[in-house]
Amino acid sequence: MTAIWKPSRRELLTSFAFGAVTFSAPGLFAEELAATASMAEGPFYPDKLPLDTDNDLLVLNDSITPAVGEITHLSGRVLTAAGSPVRNAYVEIWQVDDHGVYIHTQSMGADRRDTNFQGYGRFLTDAKGQYYFRTVKPVPYPGRTPHIHFGISKNGRRIFTTQLMVKGEPQNAKDQLYRGIDPDARETVLADFKPIPDSKIGELAANFDIVLGVTAEELDDGSLQAGVGKPLRDSRGAGGPRGRRRGPNGRRRGR
Ligand SMILES: [Fe+2]
Repeated sequence: MTAIWKPSRRELLTSFAFGAVTFSAPGLFAEELAATASMAEGPFYPDKLPLDTDNDLLVLNDSITPAVGEITHLSGRVLTAAGSPVRNAYVEIWQVDDHGVYIHTQSMGADRRDTNFQGYGRFLTDAKGQYYFRTVKPVPYPGRTPHIHFGISKNGRRIFTTQLMVKGEPQNAKDQLYRGIDPDARETVLADFKPIPDSKIGELAANFDIVLGVTAEELDDGSLQAGVGKPLRDSRGAGGPRGRRRGPNGRRRGR
């Protein structure tokens, strides 16, 4: 059984995000927070965005059929290294559905894709740097441990790219991209997916704070541009210092 939250779905999502969830950032008052490790964008940023790009990945527009999967309330904040909230930053996420399929024309298993799953969403952080998504707990697909891709944009430019993985997931240890992270920094891309105690439908909650290794001044270019930045694959090296370069055949490697 899955709850269908209509017609005030948006309202409920907002109140859940900023009322019921407690935001914690261990070390917030320390001198400097550990910067979240950046990770590759991979090849599956949607090549065609869904018609619905809101922060509820479980329900497409006015559909009454929700996506399949373990419902997860995913929240967190975007912060500077000093712990200041980064407001008006776009947080984009994209991930596979419960069958391990991306909303990308080159994704494996397109014929078994859950067409009710949005696969991608975005959210503009508030004055406290907070974001919120309702989605499903990620599942593995061949060659990868479960993960959710994140892209952060500010002033219309992609400024940070990473992937969130599930704390305690045994497949992390075999994952090449996870193993490529400095062991001291691996904790920064992990989040617990914990059962919500009073949920009658087995919902989970995960909190993932994203700490950028920049100051508030560095982020504010005064341009007042809005919107999401181009994905790294389109930015020809200008989208971020760790953007992957194209190979001779124009294809990107990695996941
Ligand atoms: Fe991926």
